[in-house]
Amino acid sequence: MYHFAREQPDDHWEVEALYDLCFAPGREALSSYRLRDGVAPVAALCVVARDTDGTLAGAIRHWPVHVGESRALLLGPVAVHPTRQGEGLGAALVEDSLGRARDLGWSRVLLVGDASYYGRFGFERLPGVEMPPPTNPDRVLGLGDWAGVSGKVTR
Ligand SMILES: CC(C)(COP(=O)(O)OP(=O)(O)OC[C@H]1O[C@@H](n2cnc3c(N)ncnc32)[C@H](O)[C@@H]1OP(=O)(O)O)[C@@H](O)C(=O)NCCC(=O)NCCS
Repeated sequence: MYHFAREQPDDHWEVEALYDLCFAPGREALSSYRLRDGVAPVAALCVVARDTDGTLAGAIRHWPVHVGESRALLLGPVAVHPTRQGEGLGAALVEDSLGRARDLGWSRVLLVGDASYYGRFGFERLPGVEMPPPTNPDRVLGLGDWAGVSGKVTR
């Protein structure tokens, strides 16, 4: 059983350590991080999952971005501790935050990730949406109302 709670300032470095553990070294050099530089995350959509003894098992954060003139939500990073992967926690974090995002009025969500994982939530490739280089366009995925929305993704 996991308890989901909004990330608090005291959780910050623990979440950073989890991301360092789960992602390849140099994760902050990825182009998606340039969209996060100097921009506050959407606090209501930064969630930690702890098990019953309080150990951090997973975390997800989101940032606001622009695509052309339109607002969008950038999902991620999301990570689950290697000892807890494959139990459905990653899916639960994604689905929980997509529900919260809808309730908060976000109509479109963007991410850079594997279509083979995110397809299960309904994410599809966004051909007209340009992440800062270098980003593999096949990994730029979206969910929600993307009709007529295209262009460069900016902070
Ligand atoms: C991706 C991640 C968050 C998934 O968390 P999780 O709790 O293991 O996910 P779930 O238990 O909900 O789902 C597990 C399923 O996803 C699949 N999966 C995990 N990562 C995948 C990937 N990158 N591509 C395709 N499938 C993937 C698993 O093979 C498993 O498949 P199955 O359901 O057919 O057995 C976790 O593996 C992780 O932290 N990875 C390292 C960080 C990362 O890559 N984050 C995502 C950035 S795009």
